[in-house]
Amino acid sequence: MPKVTIDGHEIEVPKGTTILQAARMIGPHVAPPAMCFYTKLKTSGGYCRTCIVKVTKGSAQNPNPMPKPVASCRTEVMDGMEVQNNTSPDLLEARKGVVEFLLINHPLDCPICDQAGECHLQDLGYQNGSEKTRYEFKRREFEKIDIGKYVSLHMTRCIMCFRCVKVADQITDKRVHGVLHRGDAAEISTYIENVIENDFSGNVIDVCPVGALTDRTFRFKSRVWYTKPMEAHRKCDHAKCNGKVRLWFKGEDVLRVTARKDQWGEAEEFICNTCRFEKKRKSDWIIEGPSPISHHSVISTNHYMSLNMAKVEILKHQKALGFIPMKKLDLE
Ligand code: SF4
Ligand code: FES
Repeated sequence: MPKVTIDGHEIEVPKGTTILQAARMIGPHVAPPAMCFYTKLKTSGGYCRTCIVKVTKGSAQNPNPMPKPVASCRTEVMDGMEVQNNTSPDLLEARKGVVEFLLINHPLDCPICDQAGECHLQDLGYQNGSEKTRYEFKRREFEKIDIGKYVSLHMTRCIMCFRCVKVADQITDKRVHGVLHRGDAAEISTYIENVIENDFSGNVIDVCPVGALTDRTFRFKSRVWYTKPMEAHRKCDHAKCNGKVRLWFKGEDVLRVTARKDQWGEAEEFICNTCRFEKKRKSDWIIEGPSPISHHSVISTNHYMSLNMAKVEILKHQKALGFIPMKKLDLE
């Protein structure tokens, strides 16, 4: 099994593992961001370049560094490879350039975008972006399109990650949308706004890393940080859907239903449209409990933890920061 060292952490991985997957195995402090790669979608990745890393040693056999940053989601680990992500200032500078390109046409309309608070581009911009733009030309503009009764497309926000196209290709029965044209003229189109009518079409909303594809049944209903996510399930009749979802509550009302996401923001299982759009009553579901939400996410602002949990969290953070633990926390 090949061994790779990423930001000083060595790991042994199965042959064929990409640098991105190896970095994720080490942990989130090492893993590069990924806007187009999606574990459950074959041939995804290679479009956005946010996952670039610096390969300082190609392999044990050929120790030469790679001349340019490489897309970690498409580059396989070689035995003896050494990689830098967060430890390379040059690489972080290059990633800033990628973010600048992604934001060239993307409007900064977060205050009115339904994706705000769970948008990967928002996080990326916050971590790597600059508050100024150097772009002086006219930005691309598109009218909003309703694709069927459940999905809205705001092409102005699209970053051309191709995830939705791959969902339609691989998860649904038929694909009626795709990318038309090339370069800065490229756009997601449904060929004269053909409706995406199939049982799994709602999954394009979950995979879209920005607010380009949004849920029409949730539009402008609430900001996501005012809602409370709960894990729930129901017995779904669809052969391909296991009925395990995340419900987003405001009070007693279910405002939206989504797939459960893992720590990388990817759907654990794709869900059918009946579960997503038709089951909006609490009584439709068996509630399992609160969804795990990252402590750093804005969504966690609406969540309260017990004093004991808070104490454990504080001690964990103090330890990570190298503080001498306080003998007694005055929390009781
Ligand atoms: S609409 Fe969303 S998922 Fe589809 S290509 Fe654009 S950014 Fe990606
Ligand atoms: S995640 Fe690797 S190129 Fe987009």
